[in-house]
Amino acid sequence: CGIVGYVGGQSALDVVIAGLKRLEYRGYDSAGVAVLADGGLASAKKAGKLVNLEKALVEGPLPSGNTGIGHTRWATHGGPTDANAHPHADNAGRVAVVHNGIIENFAALRAELTGRGHDLLSETDTEVVAHLLAEAFSSCGELAESMRQVCGRLEGAFTLVAVHADEPDVVVGARRNSPLVVGVGDGESFLASDVAAFIAHTRSAIELGQDQVVELRRDGVTVTDFDGAPADVRAYHVDWDASAAEKGGYDYFMLKEIAEQPKAVADTLLGRIDAEGSLTLDEVRIPSRVLRAADKVVVVACGTAFHAGLIAKYAIEHWTRIPCEVELASEFRYRDPILNTRTLVIAISQSGETMDTLMALRHARDQGATVLAICNTNGSTIPRESDAVLYTHAGPEVAVASTKAFLTQLVACYLVALYLGQLRGTKYGDEIRAVIRDLSRISHEVERVLETMEPVRELARSLADKRTVLFLGRHVGHPVALEGALKLKELAYMHAEGFAAGELKHGPIALIEEDLPVVIVVPSPRGRSVLHDKIVSNIQEIRARGARTIVIAEEGDEAVVPYADHLIRIPVTPTLLQPLVSTVPLQVFACELATARGNEVDQPRNLAKSVTVE
Ligand code: G6P
Repeated sequence: CGIVGYVGGQSALDVVIAGLKRLEYRGYDSAGVAVLADGGLASAKKAGKLVNLEKALVEGPLPSGNTGIGHTRWATHGGPTDANAHPHADNAGRVAVVHNGIIENFAALRAELTGRGHDLLSETDTEVVAHLLAEAFSSCGELAESMRQVCGRLEGAFTLVAVHADEPDVVVGARRNSPLVVGVGDGESFLASDVAAFIAHTRSAIELGQDQVVELRRDGVTVTDFDGAPADVRAYHVDWDASAAEKGGYDYFMLKEIAEQPKAVADTLLGRIDAEGSLTLDEVRIPSRVLRAADKVVVVACGTAFHAGLIAKYAIEHWTRIPCEVELASEFRYRDPILNTRTLVIAISQSGETMDTLMALRHARDQGATVLAICNTNGSTIPRESDAVLYTHAGPEVAVASTKAFLTQLVACYLVALYLGQLRGTKYGDEIRAVIRDLSRISHEVERVLETMEPVRELARSLADKRTVLFLGRHVGHPVALEGALKLKELAYMHAEGFAAGELKHGPIALIEEDLPVVIVVPSPRGRSVLHDKIVSNIQEIRARGARTIVIAEEGDEAVVPYADHLIRIPVTPTLLQPLVSTVPLQVFACELATARGNEVDQPRNLAKSVTVE
């Protein structure tokens, strides 16, 4: 969910709505605002995207005021209805609260409140907070103090922002787990899940720490812990370019972000290769002796980042000879994984906020493992809680379906694998320099792929009425197939599955029927040519059973030509690096198919870019 709070000299409603627009990527099931005006509290909320709320505000405007809060929701408790949208209020309509997270003991609190005569109107866990705040306020008369008292009673994850009509120049926020950033302006203060919400007004920011409460006034902010003890805060300057979060002439963010991939890949390599062509990863501040002693690598991640991890395994094991496991972050800590001080955990996350990944890394550190984050968002929670971080330099990624962040995650994984190889002596200077040379060239190859995508778009449009698409790959092509299928599910809402091509004959081949589109990612015929030959046989097997084959193969690979109904060429690349070029046509394919089916590309239904609940 996305949260905004404002107090200052401007119209709070205008600031809050503009902020919510920047945060809509965090959830778009419903949206709402509350402003303090004329001694009271006025609020509006609507199911669906922010435009619905904006329309409602035109039909029924709110009185204008200088203090307000807003929320854009990704539903957890209770469906995306008007009633379940935030803000939530107490029965007297004096306090309003917005929330990101899940309050795990809400049922007990709700029963307790009902017992004391409160009337709870929604199905959400958040509403209990509004009622508890109202009760606390009636005895202590201060919203910040009320918030501290209430937080002490809540279990689970919660980032909360509240206002009270009896303290009209105050906004209060509390943070446990999901992020909350303060913006310090001149005579105005802001609060948001992400600096993007207030970057148009101020670049001076304060990141709230875990279990802190902030009181926002026009002339400054006060931060304490949940017990009221003052907390040390440090303001920092936000230096990213606000225009990076604009569409810049493209119809969708996703198209822009796909196009930005060559630069994102090059930027992620920048400054990490020295004049001699070897690696310098000074940022990875983990003592070399720890990295040398590691006897296991475990990668944890979710969604697209998990697919980057699956590819990383091939590189890590091949280049370092350290056993590597890759696990979905949401499964990891629940199976009591074997971890100790010799385990290196790599947590991959674009946002740096994904709760599943955060919980997995906390578990790993509790067990004594060392955690290295690969992350695209500076200063976010996952890097802050890790032992070290290697940032990807993809720039802000706005479209919910990840593209440029994925490619840069791959680059970062290759860098980590090579670095470990260099440190442990399993890879020597010349070999590392050779791979680095290939990596440095690859951004041009990504560029070349992008220049040849028109036939892929045409093909995608012609398949708009299909129900199912299958994806096959071997070796690193297998995770690429999984990613191709995920993209299609996310964007086109089609049934799509990725398989290891060799596994086909053990079950999935039963799915093949006349004209079923099957995308096959073909490994290079050079190097591990045995894999190539095997997949060519797999293509023949499915074609013999009527499938329509869409073959992604290297330039010059003639062996596939007779069996390809559609052939998508990618540049010649070393086997391990091939995902950097083979994923790109699959992104374009999914994006175009989604558009052809009339779907909204940047904000697919039911999804959110940062999922801050487990
Ligand atoms: C969400 C997004 C996915 C993303 C995943 C992990 O589910 O919809 O696109 O891959 O989270 O996000 P992260 O920010 O941790 O990479």
